[in-house]
Amino acid sequence: AQKIRIAVTPGDGIGPEVVAEAVHCLEALRSRHNLPMEWTRFPWPSHAWHEENGESMPADALDQLKQYDAILLGALGDPGPVDDPDRYLLPDSISLAPLLDMRKGFDQWVCERPARLLPGARQYLADERAKDIDMLVIRENSEGEYVGQGGRLRKGSPDEVATQMEVFTRRATDRIIRYGFEQARLRAAARAEEGKTRHFHTRDGKTCESQVCIVTKRNALRYWGDMYTEAFEELAKQYPDVATHHELVDAACMKFVQAPWAFDVVVASNLQGDILTDLAAVLSGGMGVAPSCNLNPDDPSMPSMFEPTHGSAPDIAGQGLADPTAMLFTTARMLEWLGRKNPAIAAAGRELYDAVAADLAENAGTTRGTQEIGKAVRDRLK
Ligand code: IPM
Ligand code: MN
Repeated sequence: AQKIRIAVTPGDGIGPEVVAEAVHCLEALRSRHNLPMEWTRFPWPSHAWHEENGESMPADALDQLKQYDAILLGALGDPGPVDDPDRYLLPDSISLAPLLDMRKGFDQWVCERPARLLPGARQYLADERAKDIDMLVIRENSEGEYVGQGGRLRKGSPDEVATQMEVFTRRATDRIIRYGFEQARLRAAARAEEGKTRHFHTRDGKTCESQVCIVTKRNALRYWGDMYTEAFEELAKQYPDVATHHELVDAACMKFVQAPWAFDVVVASNLQGDILTDLAAVLSGGMGVAPSCNLNPDDPSMPSMFEPTHGSAPDIAGQGLADPTAMLFTTARMLEWLGRKNPAIAAAGRELYDAVAADLAENAGTTRGTQEIGKAVRDRLK
């Protein structure tokens, strides 16, 4: 079989610590199952690379990364020494843009952020039904509020005006909504297989086994909201087996806290999805367990990128305190994704997922270090 190649970019802060555990698990899986995969470590993008080279990554970074089947990324961003009062004032030259450059450069238009409260994960909501939280937030990852268009007029003067444009295309809207419907079907099928059917009611009295909820701010952001809604209604006709639902983003925030177990698949714009997924991460155990991935589902020549929802957490970096669980779930998703070409690699992804979930379930409420958790997971791999 053709060798799968992974670019490992540990990044900043806790990134290298949690990535080290992920790589140990990859090593264990590779040697036990003789998997045809290899990886190369890149010291960029990172703050350290920037300090030395004046840029976040080499000019040909995307060309180099394009040679790989996937990118496994730790976390980016480093605000500097803890005792520096200006640490959160990033100089102009430093940005978190490399992450966005990769998403854009490889057209990773889907950001998948599952939020499932697994046994053993911290339950922030007191309500018992929180145990049923199991949603997949799909964030549009290619445009919207993140197009980076706009500017500052009369910069620095009292009359300054900053504009920040949002651009939504029908093409990108259609593809992300369609992706949402497809995921809803897959989730319903997976649940049926496990005998755990869920029911969602539609306005016309039907009952479906899955649901897609789109999020907009249609009552205030008219043009985008209307186009999104029309695209949704049009595509829904092709998925009569999937219940449809529409929330305004402010109400969605409220309902995420009030009754998050009622959601299945949620499709949101780039920025609104960004915000909703931090909230969803907390609903399902916190940043320490929340996986994420940036996918290009239709061009196999473009690597997808796998990075947890969490950031570089500079306040706990270098102390071995970071929970690698999110990184390990993210790595499991990467293997499952790469396994589209190789069933043995997909199986390794499921094995890793099961090991991380079992470790979580058996260690509820304990405080363990990064390496301790990594080793416990590794010891569970067959
Ligand atoms: C995320 C992060 C990024 C984003 C930042 C670092 C640019 O918050 O991946 O959720 O906004 O997409
Ligand atoms: Mn974010």
